[in-house]
Amino acid sequence: MKTGWCWRKDESVNNFKTTVGLLGCGHVGAGVARMLLVDRNFIREKMGWPLELLKIAVRNPAASRPFDFPVDLFTTDPYEIVGNKDIQVVAELIGGIELTRELVLAALRSGQHVVTANKALLAHHGREIFAVAAKNKVEVMFEAAVAGGIPIIRVMKEGLSANRIRHLFGILNGTSNYILTRMSREGLDFKTALEEAQQIGYAESDPTLDVEGQDAAHKLILLTALAYGTLPDLNNIHIEGITALTPEDIEFARELGYVVKLLAISARDETDGRLEVRLHPAMLPKTHLLAEVCGSTNAVLVSGHAVGDILLNGAGAGMMPTASSVLGDLMEVARTSRQGSAPRVPSLGWFTLNDEIPRSMSETRTTYYLRFTVADRPGVLAAIASLFAEYGISLAQVIQKSAVDSHSVPLVILTHLAQERDLKAALKVVDKLPAVTAPTRLIRVETRL
Ligand code: HSE
Repeated sequence: MKTGWCWRKDESVNNFKTTVGLLGCGHVGAGVARMLLVDRNFIREKMGWPLELLKIAVRNPAASRPFDFPVDLFTTDPYEIVGNKDIQVVAELIGGIELTRELVLAALRSGQHVVTANKALLAHHGREIFAVAAKNKVEVMFEAAVAGGIPIIRVMKEGLSANRIRHLFGILNGTSNYILTRMSREGLDFKTALEEAQQIGYAESDPTLDVEGQDAAHKLILLTALAYGTLPDLNNIHIEGITALTPEDIEFARELGYVVKLLAISARDETDGRLEVRLHPAMLPKTHLLAEVCGSTNAVLVSGHAVGDILLNGAGAGMMPTASSVLGDLMEVARTSRQGSAPRVPSLGWFTLNDEIPRSMSETRTTYYLRFTVADRPGVLAAIASLFAEYGISLAQVIQKSAVDSHSVPLVILTHLAQERDLKAALKVVDKLPAVTAPTRLIRVETRL
């Protein structure tokens, strides 16, 4: 016989259940379905009643899957789940944008809660989806959409809700972080490191969304909404991936005491209060809390006015870590709906969203690493320095190496704080100097610790 504390004596609990339908049974969907089936008793013990998986909608019930599921769970018609009055919660794990938007909106309008791992859907259509959920007094939960198994959404929404967020930095794409780690540790070039990531299954056969930054940008949009109450348009933020990075730049960064990360930044400028949201490779001092986040790991560093800095670190992808977040959401929704109440906390943690537009990249001020490729002859550094002075850009550090070939040498400069508009204007002129033999490489340097 079990003894112990029970938070509520309620005989009806014995008959109560929360019913779930899954849309999709791919990599993550299969993990979620397995947890719902295999961990059924454990979940029931923790909640006090079961989460019951009623249906899984898939294109092909006969497709090969990592686990065997009872065939009668499968349907090929998503509308056997969406709009089905016997199913209280829909877990959307199909991915993609347009079909899932229709399904998610239809589920919300029919009074079903939605749990999703779909960052692209929410980054593109979040305003509409969250508004429809609020109107219908149902939940949209998306813990699995940002940083896989790391419970950052709940931390931002609830644990840190009383904090004014000073800044938030994220390593939000495991594929890119794995590639950068291999480039940095083994001196591999981007293409070789990508091929290796593909061979071991970290990178997709079409890695564009990961290595060009879109995937991390989708997650950054959602974290920005939680931090600052605005869901920026993807077109209003700077998104730059890792494809142009070279081992040479990563090695220079190391010499200068930095590591290169694909960094998601959402920050309020302390001097003028403007919001900055950007995603690009950045050099971080090697003592930075994020510098040691290696391989396919994700991490989010949040700085709040009351809490100070906190770092969450863990698996940003993968079947079971992502399923862990989906199950956490399903249990949370089950508990809320068991109370028969409207969602306890707004989906994004704010009573209303604002329309704040982040500062444009050209207005952003940061420090820069620049690698010029120049003819090794007298006066070249002086010419570049004098042009930079004309644009108000001050140099902090200079390294010049011996010739890489008979004509050109790398000339590396770190600047003091400069405005991106001025820096880009200066580079346009510098790159036309006869002594400059290849386009200049630029990496922004993040000095906030
Ligand atoms: N492909 C992503 C990554 C995980 O590499 O981190 C899903 O967003």
